[in-house]
Amino acid sequence: MKAKGIKSIAVMTGGGDCPGLNAVIRAVTKTAIAKFGLEVWGIEDGFLGLIEDRMHVLSYNEVSNILTVGGTILGSCNVSNPFKHRVTVGKMTRAKDVSGDCIKNLKGHGIDALICIGGDGTMASAARFAKKGVSVIGVPKTIDNDVYGTDVTFGFNTAVTTATEAIDKIHTTASSHHRVMIIEVMGRYAGWIALHAGVASGSDVILLPEMPYRLDKICDFVCGRSKRGKRFSIVVIAEGAREKGGRMVVAKKVAHSPDPIRLGGVANILAMQINEQTGLECRAVVLGHVQRGGTPTPFDRLLATSFGHTAVELLMRGIRGHLVVLKDGRLSSIPLSRVAGRIKTVPRNHHLIKAALAVGTSFGV
Ligand code: F6P
Repeated sequence: MKAKGIKSIAVMTGGGDCPGLNAVIRAVTKTAIAKFGLEVWGIEDGFLGLIEDRMHVLSYNEVSNILTVGGTILGSCNVSNPFKHRVTVGKMTRAKDVSGDCIKNLKGHGIDALICIGGDGTMASAARFAKKGVSVIGVPKTIDNDVYGTDVTFGFNTAVTTATEAIDKIHTTASSHHRVMIIEVMGRYAGWIALHAGVASGSDVILLPEMPYRLDKICDFVCGRSKRGKRFSIVVIAEGAREKGGRMVVAKKVAHSPDPIRLGGVANILAMQINEQTGLECRAVVLGHVQRGGTPTPFDRLLATSFGHTAVELLMRGIRGHLVVLKDGRLSSIPLSRVAGRIKTVPRNHHLIKAALAVGTSFGV
């Protein structure tokens, strides 16, 4: 389809929410209406709304005043997959490919192109729609910062800020009570939040999924601090971190979700283990969904606005099936087919790991 053929676009937010989604919706809608004179549709609740044909025309006014608001005015869903949609006929439930119905729904409203704001799960489906001929542009979101191909996703900076502020507060009570405080942060299979919040808060131990830890190393480290008169320790642990030779701690499995695994609980286990091995008093704090909420930081507002604007620009330049990325400080795009099925994890030689080691932080290895 030629760029000049585009008159109407749709925007949706898929997967887990994060701060900055509304900023992208605003940038997409305002750019499309004011710069290109397009009609913009907002799809409700991610791919579920596309499957169920729940969408409405977004007005300029509807997206005013949402730049600083957390969450998404469109709603989101992290269990829907148009290529494996759960349908129940009588007593039987089975997975069905309803992507053809989604395309019909778009065509029914005269929508020429789709902007999918989401993480790796959303991008996997976006890539498949692109393969089926839908004009798609992806925008990478997630607090986890694990989308392949971009240096950073919006939402990550806000989550790191929230986690760092929480750890700063825990620091003072840890010091008063001479405790080992173990703070569990989100991030799924990547340790980006733990690494950044851990270094920013001056945490003593940082545990990442990418570097399986040894319990004896952590215990020796916190005991060593005690002996040197440092009567408390701060341990930041990513929800996906695991002991060497052990497994990630699964909180629950969400049936039918593109990724059914929900991690969580490793901090409680580690607190018990450190207490048993060292006799030091330990407490676990699981930060949880607080990391996904609140107003986006200025950094995330800027990134989200640039991503949203770029997504519409790319469509109007005739680019299709691409993900907007920030690479080496520059906005660009890469094919969705290169992103689908991959995640970006923390490399062992990351500069923050080197810096943290240099200032005496332990990674439990
Ligand atoms: O991907 C974002 C994220 O918050 C992860 O960090 C976390 O593992 C997961 O989503 C939690 O999912 P849910 O909201 O379904 O509990």
